[in-house]
Amino acid sequence: MTRIKSLFNLEGKVAIITGASKGIGEAMARGLAEHGASVVISSRKQEAVEQVAEGFKADGLEAIGIACHVAQEAQRVNLIEKTIEKYGRIDCIINNAGTNPYFGPIEQMPAAAYQKTMDINLNAPMELSKLTYPHMKAVGGGSVIHISSIEGLHATAGFAAYNLSKAGLVMLAQNQAAEWGKDNIRVNVICPGLVKTKLSTALWADEENLKKFKKNIPLGRMAMPDEMAGLAVFLASEASSYMTGSVLVNDGGILHAPVLT
Ligand SMILES: NC(=O)c1ccc[n+]([C@@H]2O[C@H](COP(=O)([O-])OP(=O)(O)OC[C@H]3O[C@@H](n4cnc5c(N)ncnc54)[C@H](OP(=O)(O)O)[C@@H]3O)[C@@H](O)[C@H]2O)c1
Repeated sequence: MTRIKSLFNLEGKVAIITGASKGIGEAMARGLAEHGASVVISSRKQEAVEQVAEGFKADGLEAIGIACHVAQEAQRVNLIEKTIEKYGRIDCIINNAGTNPYFGPIEQMPAAAYQKTMDINLNAPMELSKLTYPHMKAVGGGSVIHISSIEGLHATAGFAAYNLSKAGLVMLAQNQAAEWGKDNIRVNVICPGLVKTKLSTALWADEENLKKFKKNIPLGRMAMPDEMAGLAVFLASEASSYMTGSVLVNDGGILHAPVLT
């Protein structure tokens, strides 16, 4: 019988994580690397991704930093080519890089802010998954993980562009799951709640605002980035070999068990 623990082993696997120079992406990359994967740390600045990769290597983990602005086609192609050059295969991609440049009413939303949000949050994951597809197929399968948000599962006034892009990721994953299951490529989505990172600063920096927000969270606090990593390890590994098209919410209970005050 298979030892269950071995199903989480990622030795020999290669994973690309976008937006991995900090926050949730860095924590997920570390989780995968600690389970044996060779990880490609990617974000816009070469210096930043190299610094994270060097930190991983100092801890005995395998990593390389390859810069990529995910909305730039040439940089996406370069990311995949350089990964293949270095490691010869791709088993997993975590589409984590995200942005939220506009908070405010829909009727005042600049078209450019909407376009930027969709380009980075939704179109880039689509294009990057397309680029990894033949490489995953060539090694007999793989795991695509999209980082959406609970904001992709409900409406919040002022968040329209972000929420649309994150909702799109759910349907992207489910369509990819429907089409790529035949190639043993699994596609799943993680929807975090409030996580303490740079991106979410506006939501937690103000003590009074945070206090109000926390009242609605059954677990009574926001998450730290490390608390998102276990799901990524699970979805990247054989431990989730029968899961595809799934939407995994990791939010302290806020979405499905809100505290009504
Ligand atoms: N924090 C939360 O509460 C929360 C909740 C739900 C979902 N999420 C989602 O989780 C993901 C990670 O967010 P986070 O909170 O960890 O944010 P973060 O700490 O601000 O990190 C964002 C990462 O993305 C990179 N990045 C930004 N724009 C990029 C681009 N155009 N191309 C490539 N990399 C880019 C950043 O590096 P550079 O600036 O160096 O490029 C950084 O590595 C996002 O998709 C976000 O929507 C976050």
